[in-house]
Amino acid sequence: MIELKKRLADAILQKLSLFNAEHGLSIENVQDMLEYPKDAAMGDLALPCFKLSKALRASPQMIAEKIADQFNCDGIGNANVLGGYLNFTVDQHFAGRVIDRVLCEGERYGASETGKGKVVVLDYSSPNVAKPFHIGHLGTTVIGHSLKKMHEFAGYQCVGINYLGDWGTQFGKLITAYKLWGSKEAIEENGIDELVSLYVRINQEAEHDESLNERARAEFKKLEQQDEENIALWKWFIEISLAEYEKTYKQLDITFDSYKGESFYTDKMPAQVQKLRDMSLLKQDDGASIVDLSAYNMPPCLILKRDGTTLYPTRDIAAAVYRKETYHFDKAIYVTSAGQSLHFAQWFKVVELMGYDWYNELVHVPYGTVSINGAKLATRTGNVILLRDLFAQAIAKASDIMKEKNPDEVLDEKTAEAVGVGAIIFHYLSNTRIKDINFIMEDVLSFEGNTGPYAQYTYARACSVLKKASPTGNDCELSTAEEMVLAKTLSQFEERITQALDEYEPYLITRYILEVCSTFNRFYHACKIVGAENEKVRNTRLRLTAAAKQVLENAMHLICMKTPEKI
Ligand code: ARG
Repeated sequence: MIELKKRLADAILQKLSLFNAEHGLSIENVQDMLEYPKDAAMGDLALPCFKLSKALRASPQMIAEKIADQFNCDGIGNANVLGGYLNFTVDQHFAGRVIDRVLCEGERYGASETGKGKVVVLDYSSPNVAKPFHIGHLGTTVIGHSLKKMHEFAGYQCVGINYLGDWGTQFGKLITAYKLWGSKEAIEENGIDELVSLYVRINQEAEHDESLNERARAEFKKLEQQDEENIALWKWFIEISLAEYEKTYKQLDITFDSYKGESFYTDKMPAQVQKLRDMSLLKQDDGASIVDLSAYNMPPCLILKRDGTTLYPTRDIAAAVYRKETYHFDKAIYVTSAGQSLHFAQWFKVVELMGYDWYNELVHVPYGTVSINGAKLATRTGNVILLRDLFAQAIAKASDIMKEKNPDEVLDEKTAEAVGVGAIIFHYLSNTRIKDINFIMEDVLSFEGNTGPYAQYTYARACSVLKKASPTGNDCELSTAEEMVLAKTLSQFEERITQALDEYEPYLITRYILEVCSTFNRFYHACKIVGAENEKVRNTRLRLTAAAKQVLENAMHLICMKTPEKI
């Protein structure tokens, strides 16, 4: 559609010379004025002529009529005046060109070079080692990775960073718990589960035994001082945890470019603390060092605790400086729950006050909370649902449904995994990210309604048509409204990506996938494809089917969904 908009804007601009006015408008100006009519029956693109009234010193109605008179633009079949609007309808040529383009560009269809030469660093997933990797992390993981894929598709060079929470007082707790109650064999056997139960136990017992907290602080201090035994335990805990995370990332097809976690920045913080001090930005508050942000209506940003140890914001500041120096990013994106919004607003402000001129390249992308069947989760008490278990549950349900649908076939486990995990991702990315989400498994995995399985099923349907017959040549004879609507929907992919990137909203892609599915399914039910009335029509429909399949594939991959050819 973007291409057509340009051509249309150009044709409109030519017509503006009919008015005796120095309007000074460019193609871009006119292009920006074009809208999609709310009611598709009115047309495919509209020019609200009142936007031109001032520049042309004429009434909208008159402008519309003058432009419409003998209007000619390749791809536009009709120009209709309605009130002060000029409504355009696309024609066969346009649809034909869309199909050609999709088939010719294949998996690059929708890609662009918008971000060429620009670097984007994305910080996402970033679980805290020794704490459970639970469904609260689903958002950062899938939103983060989708944003990465979308940026890459738009030509940006991306660096995906898993900023592991591999440092902090929780290690003091874990080391204490291990020394008191742990066993090497149990951890080797049960991996992260054993670590989590040790962590949960110490938190519970510490509620009525303060000495455990004291001991945990002491163990952490020893760790900071490079105590050999504690360092070895710490490394081991990370290794065990990473092995577990990798399994989940594999199911999601996610890889990272860097795993530099919080601990990496230990020796990079002092320089930033010194800079804050030199700039007189540090204030003492009850023994702690803070940056006063009252002028910006925010509570102070904590830099050093009373005992001189560093904090979460201190590490984030040091990490941002390191990333700027290492990757020379044009944008650094952080995906976390909305609960951390203040933290980001605070340290972004501190970075600005420190005089780093790239402070406005830092972007926080927050998202809402998750519950399952209405139940909220709490990490400390162990009342959590692990990402791993959520996936397993979805895969099991998907397997049941597939077995029921195809009782005579051997279950393809890879497909069941793609459907189960895909259903979760799709449901998660179905609404604006800031909205809280509730998972009701029945709905998430339904093959009807706006779900992941429905999208994958539609894709598989297109594949099965194309298995029966392949398109040849480059016929283009669209004979029904359903075909036109589908072609128009396919033409909008690139614009949707741009919008999704502008708003950091992968759900706009999810919504677009649903539009492609519904227009494809309407076409599929209304038109005979393989059995069409003649060769030209049949071939056009096969090509349209192949184009829809391609767009679905490209779009689903952007939101980390797999596309099995058969379900
Ligand atoms: N590890 C943190 C958590 O699980 C998220 C880290 C987000 N990234 C950052 N640069 N602060 O809550």
